[in-house]
Amino acid sequence: MTTIDRYGVMGYPVSHSRSPVIHRLFALQTNQNIQYELLQVAPDKLETAVRQFQRTGGKGLNITVPHKGEVAKLCDQLSERASTAGAVNTLSFRQGEIHGENTDGIGLLRDLAINLGITLEGANILILGAGGATRGIVGPLLEMQPSSLRIANRTLDKAQALADHFSRSGPVSACRFNVVPVTEKYDLIINATSAGLQGDAPPYPAAAISADTFCYDLSYGLKPTPFSLWARENGAENSVMGWGMLVEQAAESFHIWRGIRPDTAPVLKQMTITT
Ligand code: ATR
Repeated sequence: MTTIDRYGVMGYPVSHSRSPVIHRLFALQTNQNIQYELLQVAPDKLETAVRQFQRTGGKGLNITVPHKGEVAKLCDQLSERASTAGAVNTLSFRQGEIHGENTDGIGLLRDLAINLGITLEGANILILGAGGATRGIVGPLLEMQPSSLRIANRTLDKAQALADHFSRSGPVSACRFNVVPVTEKYDLIINATSAGLQGDAPPYPAAAISADTFCYDLSYGLKPTPFSLWARENGAENSVMGWGMLVEQAAESFHIWRGIRPDTAPVLKQMTITT
């Protein structure tokens, strides 16, 4: 009897997740016989749910908000990226052990560099926000050797703590939104705040945008996000939402689990057309 390998995404809430659709499209494209479930799990049930999924033969899980930090504590082994980010978005169950990885940063890099053709080496990068999302992307971005990477946040202490944490990996600095130095030109501005989820566009530094600044929102939605609207209104000719990162991080997880890298282009096209 053949059994279908089981995967899923755990979050709270999780009903909005596009991961099941993306992984089903990958599986169809690569002829993999898998099942991928949506698993809504409250924070106090996380450990029980992960261990039960493992015990009942599950092969892997994606982990999303708000569990990415906590789940790291359940892992027997953490990849370097997951341990630097302090967050795990992909679990693999192998020989009774839980392996934790983080594919968010590499997903963003692939979208920026391959799909969007942005050169990160030598770039001046500004990240807005200093929460978990920023923590996951600073390490991979610094690996690409930008000229500078500035983290601007409403709360300076959080930005400073992240800059200190990554200071040995590259030229990273911190400030508040209202004191972003605009004498230098930013090639890339990334919104990693969660302000858009509440429909907010905080007082981001509009003077940091020039016509050729590429604006990238880690959030995505059916309509333009508040940050994308803000970027366009302030003169950015290129402003995109994070659909590409979503699909690329999923492809990295799929590759870890199945050993096959799906072609992301048709899936990305389908996601942005049908949503
Ligand atoms: P995530 O894991 O999604 O990054 P988080 O750790 O809660 O979530 O971080 C949220 C980020 O969005 C923080 O940088 C937060 O700013 P503070 O550190 O000052 O709290 C930022 N953020 C959320 N809502 C915001 C708002 N309305 N205006 C400005 N920044 C906001």
